[in-house]
Amino acid sequence: MRRTVLSVASEVAPLVKTGGLADVAGALPGALLPEGWAIRTLLPGYPAVLEAARGGREVWREERLFGGPGRVLAFEAAGLDLLALDAPHLYLRDGGPYLGRDGRDWPDNAERFAALAWAGAAIAAEGLADGWRPAVLHVHDWQAALAPVYLKERGGRAGSLITIHNVAFHGLVDASRRSALRLPEAGFTPEGYEFWGRISMLKAGLVWADRISTVSPTYARELLTPEFGMGLDGVLRARHHVLRGILNGIDERVWNPATDPAIARYRAPSGKARNRAALCAELGLPPPKGPLCVVVSRLSEQKGLDLLLAALPRLLEAGGALALLGAGDSGFEAAFRNAAATHPDRVAVRIGYDEALAHRMIAGGDAILVPSRFEPCGLTQLYGLRYGTLPVVALTGGLADTVINANDAGMKAGVATGIQFHPVTAAALGEALERLAALFADREAWTAMQRNAMRHPVGWAASAPAYAALYAELAAA
Ligand code: ADP
Ligand code: GLC
Repeated sequence: MRRTVLSVASEVAPLVKTGGLADVAGALPGALLPEGWAIRTLLPGYPAVLEAARGGREVWREERLFGGPGRVLAFEAAGLDLLALDAPHLYLRDGGPYLGRDGRDWPDNAERFAALAWAGAAIAAEGLADGWRPAVLHVHDWQAALAPVYLKERGGRAGSLITIHNVAFHGLVDASRRSALRLPEAGFTPEGYEFWGRISMLKAGLVWADRISTVSPTYARELLTPEFGMGLDGVLRARHHVLRGILNGIDERVWNPATDPAIARYRAPSGKARNRAALCAELGLPPPKGPLCVVVSRLSEQKGLDLLLAALPRLLEAGGALALLGAGDSGFEAAFRNAAATHPDRVAVRIGYDEALAHRMIAGGDAILVPSRFEPCGLTQLYGLRYGTLPVVALTGGLADTVINANDAGMKAGVATGIQFHPVTAAALGEALERLAALFADREAWTAMQRNAMRHPVGWAASAPAYAALYAELAAA
């Protein structure tokens, strides 16, 4: 059995990243190597990617790739075996991977990512010019979701896996574009890729792929319900026998307080004090008596940060402070800036995307808040655990699977690593923050929890074998 995988993703850290998908796509190859699986990763040739791909070998080309020529360059960067889809008409633009400078979706996003999926399927079916051909095609989210359709249309024999990182993004397209997207006409039915009269690129992947995975066991169950399935719960229920929930890990080479070059390094909870003081000084916050809570997040509805705005008075009342790093929805940006202006001594807000500051915040905070309405896995609570920065999380998705609640049972058993709240409301979050402040005041209990958190496994050791088992099923089929 050949143990080769082509992974197709629209972002891969450290080259391009807007969220956790990039982290996971960037970490999987390193995690699966010890399991005996060699992963090559195909990603769009955005300007930053082409820069890194300079001098790469051309291993595939197609003259008419959704409106212009495309070719694939093979190169190595950051220890990853990468394939850049160089198609200037689609990716060589000034702006983000999905949005233009005006903050709006690129109008041709469907074609841009259909092309990525097309190249992925072609490589999986026919191989590269150098003879390499994967046994498994592993695609991520709606941006790569058409690949299993194209692969089947080509009669390719590779097994296919689609991973759902977030079911909220479907890649919905007007039905009239199905031939432009090279989709088989016969598939435009409710059992196929039609979604209420439109095309759902994600749904296509969920129907056509041989296996489906998502990024935590709890989210795998939640996806089957109307509350969380975002209209795709029916499709997923019909295919639940091929759906697996495999928890994400973090890249422990990047997120490790003992080796992190961005912070004052530490191995024990006591080492956090220096980082806390430095963070307060950097943000202009007098060190609070209560817990310094940090947030590192996209500012979107999903993340439940409106609940935090509503619960903020209870945190401040209890002696705590808040430091937030995030970007996204302009309404949230303004609301948090406003909170900082109202409480300059207790609330600090940095709007923007800043990798190094994210490390300093997670090292310097006492607690990290993740009050998401839904969260397929979530990575920042895992960073928090690794850094002894106790997570306060909503009881949902991967947040439910990764934090051990400091309720009476958890405290008695001496295993708690953070606080979970439910229902996901401002009132329940407010109570959780008050409980956090009470625990913080009990130095012994707090330090014990920090030790538990720092010991909790958050790497890929448990999940890599689960992916390897899935790959093996697909390669053998
Ligand atoms: P999601 O993918 O839904 O955004 P995750 O928790 O899985 O949520 O991953 C988010 C990733 O993006 C983490 O690595 C987090 O540190 C990073 N991140 C989010 N916002 C920022 C920001 N403003 N600056 C730096 N890193 C950020
Ligand atoms: C998505 C989810 C997040 C998950 C990440 C990586 O962006 O919102 O919960 O951790 O993908 O799988």
